[in-house]
Amino acid sequence: MIKWGFSVHRIRSSNRILLVLLVALLLAVACAGSQGGRPGGLPDEINDDFLAEDLDVDEWVESFEGESRGVYAQRHAIVAALGLAPGDRIADIGAGTGFFSFLFSPKVGDEGRVYAVEIAPRFLELLRARARELELANLRVVEGTDRSVELPTESIDVAFICDVYHHFEYPFDSLASLHRAIRPGGSLVLIDFERIPGQSSEWLLEHVRAGREVFTAEIESAGFRLSDEIFLDDLEGNYILRFDRTD
Ligand SMILES: C[S@@+](CC[C@H](N)C(=O)[O-])C[C@H]1O[C@@H](n2cnc3c(N)ncnc32)[C@H](O)[C@@H]1O
Repeated sequence: MIKWGFSVHRIRSSNRILLVLLVALLLAVACAGSQGGRPGGLPDEINDDFLAEDLDVDEWVESFEGESRGVYAQRHAIVAALGLAPGDRIADIGAGTGFFSFLFSPKVGDEGRVYAVEIAPRFLELLRARARELELANLRVVEGTDRSVELPTESIDVAFICDVYHHFEYPFDSLASLHRAIRPGGSLVLIDFERIPGQSSEWLLEHVRAGREVFTAEIESAGFRLSDEIFLDDLEGNYILRFDRTD
């Protein structure tokens, strides 16, 4: 059997430099993929529909706010489970058509704040129009980017991420911006799809790049600790996890 030390020793010095450079390159590529870059398995077109200039908001209101959608049908139970109190500051990351943000608003009251964060221009317009119409003085619509939630440092107690994490194109960058925005001891609530190879539909297996174990590991690596799972009797196909900011 050839031992590594012996074979490397015999490689000529110019080849050795090339070998070192090659290993360094491979490590750099691996780190980019796992930390800063687009994660493996993420569909290229994951946000294309939302970002389209001609996005039909009425169509998406119908789709996101239909009683056949589990998280919509269970929206009041989900909001109740968060245990929001007057004065709390919560960010609805990837607010979409905004129905969760609008339910958070009366829970946190005049002293509290709701940030509805979006990256899709037509949803941002819709959120602003709906917030104006509903006269929600404690709600701010925030334009995020695909790498940052664009919220001030330690400005929120809770980040709420429903059906959005698997849409993050640069999850580690987005998580770093969330870690900055959440106050020490604050929390991140993740709602996403159960993804079980052999059980979930082909569409879901392709659309959602990973299951709860991978998402949990990613979020914990960004300075959070899984602290709780919320079970709702009538919510099928989704899980709800709470993470606390640890440092
Ligand atoms: C499936 S929709 C969910 C909308 C809403 N949370 C709901 O449950 O009805 C995903 C949303 O995430 C938004 N999104 C995707 N990547 C994002 C990011 N990096 N930051 C903020 N929002 C993002 C999309 O524009 C889209 O509105």
